[in-house]
This record gives sequence, structure tokens and C-alpha cells, in this order.
Amino acid sequence: MGELRNFFTPLHRKTSRNYVERMLDDKVACMQVAKEYGARFWDGDRRYGYGGYRYDGRWEAVARQLIDSYGLTEKAKILDVGCGKGFLLHELKRLLPGATVAGFDCSPYALENAKEEVRGNLFQHRAQEPYPYGDKEFDLTISLTTLHNLELFDLKPALAEIERVSKRAYITVEGYRNEQELFNLQCWALTCASFYTPKAWVWLFEEFGYRGDYEFIYFE
Ligand SMILES: C[S@@+](CC[C@H](N)C(=O)[O-])C[C@H]1O[C@@H](n2cnc3c(N)ncnc32)[C@H](O)[C@@H]1O
Repeated sequence: MGELRNFFTPLHRKTSRNYVERMLDDKVACMQVAKEYGARFWDGDRRYGYGGYRYDGRWEAVARQLIDSYGLTEKAKILDVGCGKGFLLHELKRLLPGATVAGFDCSPYALENAKEEVRGNLFQHRAQEPYPYGDKEFDLTISLTTLHNLELFDLKPALAEIERVSKRAYITVEGYRNEQELFNLQCWALTCASFYTPKAWVWLFEEFGYRGDYEFIYFE
């Protein structure tokens, strides 16, 4: 079984969030817009998603931790499932220019507006569909804040595919540890479809045969 990691939480904690305000701001309509993962989710008003998702170098710290923790070298092959605009892959490639990076996402808008340097390595695909790769083809597969957007029946094939194509894997998903965090998560999340405690997530990983590492982000 994989290990609990702490790579992404420091980034996640930097954002300030007014949970109740969000819940009262026509949230159902905002969720419907967000789930299209189009321009408004990425670069529209904050009520629909990121409120402007621009490259600002914040991913470098995460990339460095991944390189150190997984011993990635210039020969590494790395896959990002739900890569969005490819910011993390770009950092990895910047730090390891010889590495092979690949990523996919269901959002055409994210891919069209991806970091130019890695755009050619990205393609449109859904995490729950079979991946066009061989067994254990990647030294590391990562998936950050994507998989909780899948429903349970899609999580199973997605986790199985990540496990199949990777030597090592690391995923981050949203979770909650108590009623307050569940409330906050439900207020804040626009696209989340799987709301679980860490215990339930780990149970799911075992049940679905995912043996990679994981991290949970919480809405404290
Ligand atoms: C919160 S964003 C995170 C993006 C990126 N990993 C990052 O951290 O910058 C969630 C991502 O999941 C993608 N996504 C949602 N459902 C998906 C699916 N079924 N297959 C692939 N990507 C999906 C969205 O398009 C979006 O890029």
C-alpha cells in the first residue's frame, strides 16, 4: 500500500476562502458552469472556479519534492492525469530537461491554454477511459485534485489505469476529517463528486487495487 504524502497541502493552505458566502452565491448555477471546465472555470469569475489560473511559478516547490521523493532523473517518464494547463509538468520539464513528460485532461480549454513549452505533450482524454500506454511505462504518474471529480464507478477504472501504467504513482484528492470540514468542502467545491474521509479513500484505494501514494487536502 502507498504512503501518505505532504507535497501539495502547503500550496492549498495559501488560498483564503469564505465558505458560506460561496454557498449563498447561486452555487448550483456556478457548479453547472464549473463542470464544463471551460473558459469560465479557468479564467472567469472566481464564483465559477479558479478566477484566473495563470502560471506564477508556484508549482516549482511541488515539482522539486516529486523529483527528490521519487528519485526522478533526466531519463524519467512522467504522466499527469488531469494535467489542466500543464503547469506542474512544465516545472518538472524545466528542472529535468531530459525527462519525458505527458499529460491529459478532459478540458479542451485547459489544453489550448496550456503552458506553451509542454502543450505538444498534452492531449484530451478522460481519466476513466483506457490510457494509450503500456504496462509500467511511466516512472511516475501524478494526478492532482482531479480524481475526486469522478463518481465512484469512474474512480475504479481511473485508479486501475494509473496503477497499470506506472511504476510509482502519487495522487491528491479532496477529503474531510470532521463535520466542519465536510460542510466547508460542500460549500466550496464546485466540481467534486466523491466526498470521503481519508479512511474511506484508503479503503477505496485498496478495494480498487491502487498501490501508489496519496495526499488529502482539507478545507479547514
Ligand atoms: C482542480 S483542476 C486541477 C488541474 C491540475 N491538476 C492542476 O493542479 O493544476 C481539476 C482538473 O480535472 C480535470 N478533470 C475533471 N474530470 C476529469 C476527467 N474525468 N478526466 C480527465 N480530467 C478531468 C479538469 O478539467 C481539471 O483540469
